[in-house]
Amino acid sequence: MKIKGTGSAHPSLTLTNDMLAEFLDTSDEWIVSRTGIKQRQIMSDENLKDLAISAAKNALEDAGTDARDIDFIICSNVVNEYVTPSLSCLVHKGIDASCPCVDINAACSGFLYALQIAEAYQKAGMAKNILIVCAEEPTRMVDWNDRRTCVLFGDGAGAVVVTEGDDLKAIKVTNTSKTDVLYEQRCLEPTPFISKEEQNIPLQMKGQEVFKSAVSSSIKDITDVATEAGVALEEIDWFILHQANLRIVEGVCKLLRQDLSKFPHNVEFYGNTSSASIPMLLDEMNKRGDLKDGDKLVFSAFGAGFTTGACLIEWSAKK
Ligand code: ACO
Repeated sequence: MKIKGTGSAHPSLTLTNDMLAEFLDTSDEWIVSRTGIKQRQIMSDENLKDLAISAAKNALEDAGTDARDIDFIICSNVVNEYVTPSLSCLVHKGIDASCPCVDINAACSGFLYALQIAEAYQKAGMAKNILIVCAEEPTRMVDWNDRRTCVLFGDGAGAVVVTEGDDLKAIKVTNTSKTDVLYEQRCLEPTPFISKEEQNIPLQMKGQEVFKSAVSSSIKDITDVATEAGVALEEIDWFILHQANLRIVEGVCKLLRQDLSKFPHNVEFYGNTSSASIPMLLDEMNKRGDLKDGDKLVFSAFGAGFTTGACLIEWSAKK
């Protein structure tokens, strides 16, 4: 498998830490020192499906691939305003595709899960060109009176077109049943047969536990994929981590004894955009010309579940 094109789309509203401090007991100093986040792009009157379609079109254009030549679409998404049809169906319509499509929810690790599914489809001979779109609006999951969570997130969409190739050297995904460290619960429609009490619970997070699990799982996953690919950590050019928190990125970098310049980050400007964060950052690097032919890239993500995933790719500049 190889990545043939990348794309991204962001909502138009920029929310700075100072703007948050106007209605929350927080400060730019607290948020920057604990998370690195300075601002985020967040949904106002936009629809996530439009962002997802825009990121998808962007990736198709970069890949030089016609939507009609896509064999399968995978959307990674935790929430959006539609329960059904799936976000992938809405993207399918928006780009005028003609292939099957499906949504997955592996929280912030969704991009890695999608890459692995794409590779399996290719290996099974079921698809050649696959569009992966990660579109997320976690700002609609949090309680905006809860300063412990709402300051962390932003919204956005990132997409890639993958095709057959030999760039993917190793990939793994995992899950441990830590379902209580990060969760959101919502009420479904009532029925005459439900008597139990149900309630909406906005996103709950055991921050320090999430922090520790993120750092330790990322280190293990990165080491595992590097070992499987027979590549020393020193040979890896870019460690592209899920952008949850700059301190997590710095922690992983320090424990792997690597140079921080190999850990690109844009969490400062977008906050945590869940599964969209890696493809958004990848698109930024691709369009900026950071990625050279033969560069070794590692992606590593972690999220609610507790899901994790990592892969090692040797980048081909010529698609
Ligand atoms: N502004 C000001 N003060 C705050 C804020 C805020 N936004 N949020 C919390 N505080 C206060 C708390 O109330 C607490 O005050 P107290 O001591 O008077 O009770 C104090 O700051 C310390 O709170 P902690 O939760 O212990 O702060 P911590 O140093 O652990 O930092 C943080 C919190 C930034 C969330 C950290 O735990 C973290 O980064 N965890 C990782 C979580 C993460 O990245 N989640 C993203 C989603 S998950 C994912 O993508 C995998």
